[in-house]
Amino acid sequence: MNTETKYLGLELKSPVIVGSCGLTADVDNMVQMERAGAGAVVVKSVFEEQIIHDIKRNTHMVAPTDSYGDSYEYIAQHVADNSLERHFSMIREAKSRLTIPVIGSINCFSYENWLTYAKKFEEAGCDALELNMAILPYETTLSADDVERTFNQIITTLRKSVSIPISIKVGSYFTDMAKQMQQLSWMGIQGVTMFNKNVEVDIDIESETLKNASYLSNPEDIYKTLRWVAILSKKMRCDLSASTGVYTAADVVKMLLAGATTVQVVSCLYKHGIDTLRDLNNGLCDWMQRKGYNSLADFRGKLAVMPADKASVAMRTQFMKYFADIV
Ligand SMILES: Cc1cc2nc3c(=O)[nH]c(=O)nc-3n(C[C@H](O)[C@H](O)[C@H](O)COP(=O)(O)O)c2cc1C
Repeated sequence: MNTETKYLGLELKSPVIVGSCGLTADVDNMVQMERAGAGAVVVKSVFEEQIIHDIKRNTHMVAPTDSYGDSYEYIAQHVADNSLERHFSMIREAKSRLTIPVIGSINCFSYENWLTYAKKFEEAGCDALELNMAILPYETTLSADDVERTFNQIITTLRKSVSIPISIKVGSYFTDMAKQMQQLSWMGIQGVTMFNKNVEVDIDIESETLKNASYLSNPEDIYKTLRWVAILSKKMRCDLSASTGVYTAADVVKMLLAGATTVQVVSCLYKHGIDTLRDLNNGLCDWMQRKGYNSLADFRGKLAVMPADKASVAMRTQFMKYFADIV
């Protein structure tokens, strides 16, 4: 059974790839992922926020405003370089031990660092770069136009500055999801990954404090991504990678039928182990064989919503007795 696919211009043996997470910060894990059949790995993101945190921890004796201003700058640069160098040496090792594509990932908040880091990823030998741009629009002063401008500015600059393929990983907070995703796909990038799952917030009612809810997804979290992949896959001018809630081979098949180019898995590997990738690939092949499909192209996008289709089940959000068997 042929499960080969092209993603971001790269040749993949399988459409099942491992999304960016703690497991992909370790080269031995990545080797195990390749052996279990991963088509590619997206390495754990470098977070500018983490690097700032490292700088603060290491420069607490030297305040930026004191007379040791120069030493602060020096130490800060040294800490940042060290943090990044550790990451890039891990990427270089991954590149030397893996044959599948290694995709780097970054999350920055300053415009300059998106650019600086992206260039360093290219130099480190990454096959492609996923920009982790999931923005939570919590500022009451932030408009949809502001978010759009941020995306445009970063993508336009990076597109001109690095030559490896670029994909954008987005969150699901867009008022104009279809328009935004289509416009992103027109900006000369090679792919969009939908969606990054937010770390959700919960409340401890005894201590009356905010806390993080579980950071792993659940199988029912697949539906939001599935809907949007089905609605958008025929309208995009770049690849679409489906992320969140993929746990089984059936889930992989669903995403491909909806039109995804690749399917990312993370929580499933945390909960059931890296070797689950084998079950996902075997299950995909078994299903293709049962259905008489020889390649992914035979069925990919078969259930995508066509641009003119206004009556698709994928567009229905409200419950109505008329459309359901439930009374
Ligand atoms: C422990 C953990 C760490 C993660 N770290 C990153 C990260 O560094 N960068 C990123 O883009 N996504 C990160 N994610 C999000 C995943 O890549 C993925 O988009 C999300 O977990 C939804 O997919 P899933 O349902 O397969 O887990 C992380 C997820 C988990 C659970």
